[in-house]
Amino acid sequence: MDFRLPYAHRGLDHDPQWYRRAVFYEVMVRSFYDSDGDGVGDIPGLISKLDYLEWLGIDALWLPPFYSSPLKDGGYDVADFRQVLPEFGTIEDFQELVAQAHSRNMRVVMDLPLNHTSVDHEWFQESRSNPDGPYGDYYVWSDTDQIRQQIRVIFTDTENSNWAFDSERRQFYFHRFFSHQPDLNYHNPRVHDEVRDIARFWLAMGVDGFRLDAIPYLYESDEGSGESEPETHEFLKKFRSFLDEEFPGRVLIAEANQWPKEVAAYLGTNEEPECHMAFDFPIMPRIFYALRSQQTASLNEVLSETTEVPEGAAWGVFLRNHDELTLEMVTEEEKQALYGWYAYDPRMRVNVGIRRRLATLLDNSRKELELAHGLLLSLPGSPFLYYGDEIGMGDNIWLEDRDSSRTPMQWTPDRNAGFSAADPGKLYLPVVQSLVYNYAFSNVETQLAQQASLLHWVRNLVHLRKEHPVLGVGSLRVVPTDNPSALAFIRDMQAEDCRPGERPETMLCVYSFAHHPISVDLQLPEEFRANRVTDVMGGASFPAPTEQGHVTLTLPAQSFYWLSLAGVKQSVA
Ligand code: GLC
Repeated sequence: MDFRLPYAHRGLDHDPQWYRRAVFYEVMVRSFYDSDGDGVGDIPGLISKLDYLEWLGIDALWLPPFYSSPLKDGGYDVADFRQVLPEFGTIEDFQELVAQAHSRNMRVVMDLPLNHTSVDHEWFQESRSNPDGPYGDYYVWSDTDQIRQQIRVIFTDTENSNWAFDSERRQFYFHRFFSHQPDLNYHNPRVHDEVRDIARFWLAMGVDGFRLDAIPYLYESDEGSGESEPETHEFLKKFRSFLDEEFPGRVLIAEANQWPKEVAAYLGTNEEPECHMAFDFPIMPRIFYALRSQQTASLNEVLSETTEVPEGAAWGVFLRNHDELTLEMVTEEEKQALYGWYAYDPRMRVNVGIRRRLATLLDNSRKELELAHGLLLSLPGSPFLYYGDEIGMGDNIWLEDRDSSRTPMQWTPDRNAGFSAADPGKLYLPVVQSLVYNYAFSNVETQLAQQASLLHWVRNLVHLRKEHPVLGVGSLRVVPTDNPSALAFIRDMQAEDCRPGERPETMLCVYSFAHHPISVDLQLPEEFRANRVTDVMGGASFPAPTEQGHVTLTLPAQSFYWLSLAGVKQSVA
């Protein structure tokens, strides 16, 4: 199939708030397409698949690190921030990727892991061998590992302390993640200068923004928790003004796995903005909780809490990404329930989370995959899809750590799932060959040939969302229902939110998490009681609200409606 659009449709639009209407796609360079047959995905390979992503409706790519790295943490262990890992390609390849993406009006956001480097980074090597030299204070050194014991360990499966001893410098260094990832010392202003220069280097190449990896952990203190300390926010405010001044229109996306109010803090305030976007960590596990418990109370609660954000800020909503499905931000009771439902085999767990893909978590249930995507694409904020989830790709829990869900993209039923022409034994990770998710039928080519496939369904929904910018920029109001398995909210876009050519729009989104059909009564706010109710997908008219604003709907098991509230309902004579 030829995915290309005529050239007339190409070129980058100049909306500085482009990210509020964008559908993002996380794709690891290593996993997408191998253009030179060495068994590893590369940048030219990704370029060759941009037509596919354009066809899918993707507006922006998020690329996890592709810097020079020993790859002991999927590239989040950076050895040189100014080099592309040779097996992924060259700087010129990357520039070509940016140019090719932009020609399709597609943005490129890259990961910037600022908190730490690899032990292989030359700064660390200098720091450990020459404590009095220029790099001596680039990392957090201490004579004792008995301080800052109150700071929790994140990678609980592999690390039992945040300190590691360096035999050369004969001191301990602090690390929030793996012991091969020493934390940079943000109390040293030279580290700020370095980080800014690195950002400039990539921004000058046309990159549209950064995902700021592990951002809450930049600063730590002797008494604090090492998370979201005030100086971290001070740093971000400065970083944001640098970006706004030198590179307006580029974005910062916070990866802050924190409770709702703390995540919101990463967006800053109208007066002092920090990031443009923050991943909505609190909502994600609650979607999975609702799918099994058939209860929406916890979703309702968190949705009502996280809505206040500064002007122009947006949430990044997601179901899965390259990490484990983290359960750090749920109650103990919810965590145990989620483990029971989704990680019944201990191999499915890692750290405080579950290392499985979307389709396997949902047991390949088409209804659940549709419901989850329906919610994802209508929640306040911009959705981030994870490569392969659009075809319901499986995972491999026999692989180590989070590699379980980082296997090669499945393009065709051919050798190596069409990902690579290499000898199968040479692939960076094997393709998924499990019974249910075997690449022989779970692949792009096969799903393209079937109109009713998940791939076509997801694509249609993505395009439908793009036709309704209210789902990107509209405000959110949770609507009370009489059914604990239902969730309803109104998205409302006013004239001031419209770009030229757009019109104000209101949408009522209703979800049923019940495993059987239900009827639900909604109470609409006063101003929508006179509206007509129309299904956005098929255009069918639904019964209009009563005088008191009641709408009664019936929903099949695990289903949803996107309903437009527009025009004036016909008055009953
Ligand atoms: C972030 C990344 C994760 C990585 C960690 C340490 O959380 O998403 O993949 O392991 O940072 O760099």
